Amino acid sequence: MQTTSLADVELAIEDRGTGPVLLLVHGFPLDHSMWQAQIDEFSTRFRVLAPDLRGFGGSGLGTGEVTMRRYADDLAALLDRLDIDDKIIYCGLSMGGYIAWQFWQKYADRLAGLVLCDTRAVADSPQAKAGRAELAARVLAAGSQAAAEAMLPKLFGPQSERDHPEAIEQTRAVILGNSPAGIAAALDGMAKRPDATDMLAGINVPTLVVVGEHDGISPPAEMQGIAERIPAAQFALIPSAGHMSPLENPVAFNAVLGRFLAGK
Ligand code: MLT
Repeated sequence: MQTTSLADVELAIEDRGTGPVLLLVHGFPLDHSMWQAQIDEFSTRFRVLAPDLRGFGGSGLGTGEVTMRRYADDLAALLDRLDIDDKIIYCGLSMGGYIAWQFWQKYADRLAGLVLCDTRAVADSPQAKAGRAELAARVLAAGSQAAAEAMLPKLFGPQSERDHPEAIEQTRAVILGNSPAGIAAALDGMAKRPDATDMLAGINVPTLVVVGEHDGISPPAEMQGIAERIPAAQFALIPSAGHMSPLENPVAFNAVLGRFLAGK
């Protein structure tokens, strides 16, 4: 891991390999380590960048409100700091996908392709917003443990619960290592994110939409609907996986991503 200074914050980033840039953007309330199997696999022919978003992992939180747009601005600033002018492939999971819509809206000219994993285009319902505010208050009062308890049962599919308890425990450790302030700021940012549905028809870069077959947060039917609205999108279902498809079934996920990246 190295750190890169942006205007108001230091971001930690895994920067491995050479070649076209593959930017991996983690979900909530995690950090770059959820992409370990993809970093290992694709850094043999890509320059894989896997940052910790502000407020997560080894990155500072900075000051002021956190929004999906602000995370996207951080990622663009990070590319600038690393002198990356060539178009990149952006791959984001869940909250990393919410940020992808903002990145597309503001920085489309920097994109050669998009990979949207286990994410949603719709905004939060009033009920979901209220749930996020309630969780943020609990996290700030009781610590990151409250986020681990709320999120872990939703992140993993039944097969991981049975066969890979160690993956769940590693993820718990990542969540516990994140600061309550960073987690609460992200919850607020997700609650305030705009609906991206109207953007989908205008996305004109090659796009891969991937979802775990047991994903309950961003269910396969909803993700298939996203793929159908994006003109150049392919859709792939990852077996034996829930919401954390790249981590739960890296063999199937990497095969799908590898096919999409072939020739790039
Ligand atoms: C994530 O994985 O980033 C979160 O589940 C997204 C969300 O809570 O909407």
